[in-house]
Amino acid sequence: MRLTPAHLQIAFRNLTDVRHFFFYPTVGSTNDKAKDLAQKGAEEGTLVIADTQTAGRGRLDRHWFSPPGLGIYLSAIVRPKVPAESAFGVHMAAAIALAQAADAQHLQSAVGIKWPNDLVAEGRKLAGILSEVGIQAGILEWCVVGVGINVNHTRTDFPPDLRDRAISLREICNRRLDRLDLVVQFIDTFWLWYDRYLEGGIAVLAPEWRRRSTLLGRTVRVETAGETYVGTALDLENDGALRVRLESGTEEVLHAGDVELVQYR
Ligand code: BTN
Repeated sequence: MRLTPAHLQIAFRNLTDVRHFFFYPTVGSTNDKAKDLAQKGAEEGTLVIADTQTAGRGRLDRHWFSPPGLGIYLSAIVRPKVPAESAFGVHMAAAIALAQAADAQHLQSAVGIKWPNDLVAEGRKLAGILSEVGIQAGILEWCVVGVGINVNHTRTDFPPDLRDRAISLREICNRRLDRLDLVVQFIDTFWLWYDRYLEGGIAVLAPEWRRRSTLLGRTVRVETAGETYVGTALDLENDGALRVRLESGTEEVLHAGDVELVQYR
């Protein structure tokens, strides 16, 4: 089914958590649109979806490859009444929901969560999440969770520099997938985990997140803005930071970074 406003309207009929949606055939970035709407007071449950983005963004303002007709580019606005420090729970709920929505397509490969933003399969990036928050006087006002999923891309649809690092669902299951179906699956599952998080906090999400983590217990190299750390990824902190035991034995809590698994032979 094509991604059109009419099809989305029908597909969202039974999803009571979806209050409003905006569909754009082409947009700069769905996150930018959603942030603008959130700042103007859009209510929780507002979605922005596009067929293609001309300025799709990832972490650290990296470009997110967003060709038309192939991927999912979606941003959701939520307004959780939680302390700003635990907003990472919304991001975790999205990561778990993405992995489970992918699983529901009966994949042969496991889908893992690679801290902080990536969903990976077969060692390559399948999807990314960009969460942005609005905080006023220490109060969390809104959270925009943006997800980009590589769905129906073939190898040659990716630009050469991404071909070894990115993967699509189509490549994993050898068939084209229905993007509309995936959007519904993701939104439905996201709200399930989001509600659980509102009731029980990050602790409720942590077991599934840990089970899916591709890093915990492994030796990792984390590059942050100024430093490189090598050590064992131990666990996730309540604010979403990664605790790493360095080779020296000391522990570091890292809030963001580029992570690679270190292979020892
Ligand atoms: C990352 O891996 O660094 C996160 C990528 C997030 C991409 C999505 S696509 C929909 C939404 N709009 C954006 O501009 N970015 C996110």
